[in-house]
Amino acid sequence: MSEQKIALVTGGARGIGEAICRVLAEAGYKVIVSDVVADSAKKLAQEIDGYGIEMDVTKADSVDGAVAEINDKVGTPWLVVNNAGWDNLMPFLHTDEAFQKKIIDINLHGPIRVCRATLPGMKTLGSGRIVNIASDAGRLGAAMEAIYSGAKGGLISFTKTLAREFARNQITANNVCPGLTDTPLIGEITANNELALKGIAAIKQSVPLGRMGTPHDIAHAAAFLASEQAAYITGQTISVSGGITMAG
Ligand SMILES: NC(=O)c1ccc[n+]([C@@H]2O[C@H](COP(=O)([O-])OP(=O)(O)OC[C@H]3O[C@@H](n4cnc5c(N)ncnc54)[C@H](O)[C@@H]3O)[C@@H](O)[C@H]2O)c1
Repeated sequence: MSEQKIALVTGGARGIGEAICRVLAEAGYKVIVSDVVADSAKKLAQEIDGYGIEMDVTKADSVDGAVAEINDKVGTPWLVVNNAGWDNLMPFLHTDEAFQKKIIDINLHGPIRVCRATLPGMKTLGSGRIVNIASDAGRLGAAMEAIYSGAKGGLISFTKTLAREFARNQITANNVCPGLTDTPLIGEITANNELALKGIAAIKQSVPLGRMGTPHDIAHAAAFLASEQAAYITGQTISVSGGITMAG
């Protein structure tokens, strides 16, 4: 990288987000590790010579305040990775209004808020990258993930529209769709949930490449979409799922 670029990662403190922060730092970015859990974000940032900051993607004030601080103290992000997300598995008819709102707020409205806050700055740089971490659930649907699938499907379409609107600014926007990936979230989803445990065991057995994904599997795809080599790729959705889904 000739001139050090700034990368903002949401939900960067653990799991897939942490791996993305580490891979981007190794690639030479100044990484802004943002997370609702500020202490963990700051700890990781220290380790990778980045900048750690609290950002709750469900709160407009938190997003706008953090982006203002980043612009002021570090500089304008050239790359934004919308990774923060959350899910819990349950049949659609067990979901209530509060659960539905929470899922949509984190997984869909969160990235919308972050893009709204960062794209004006990115435009001034003359080029940039948006990489959104969606899910295969958003491409294909997934049992016990009706609301999450809807939110991630919305995120995929939102990303494609950004790709169209901002192509004139040399800003690309793409989605990475993880399949089942070994992160703390999966441990939390399966704890004390027999149905979820069974569902996840069944998915694991059907992966053609014979294993669960690792956070680094996802991080390398995100880093590629952010790279100079991917400058002509926009509006695309790439699954990193060990072959459990294959695009037609
Ligand atoms: N793990 C999987 O199998 C899998 C599969 C498909 C998609 N994904 C997606 O990958 C992304 C990362 O998932 P993960 O498995 O690493 O999850 P994780 O729970 O292990 O890590 C998520 C991180 O996001 C942070 N976070 C949660 N809510 C936030 C908020 N409101 N604002 C800011 N940060 C917040 C958490 O503190 C945590 O550090 C998510 O978007 C998830 O939907 C994961």
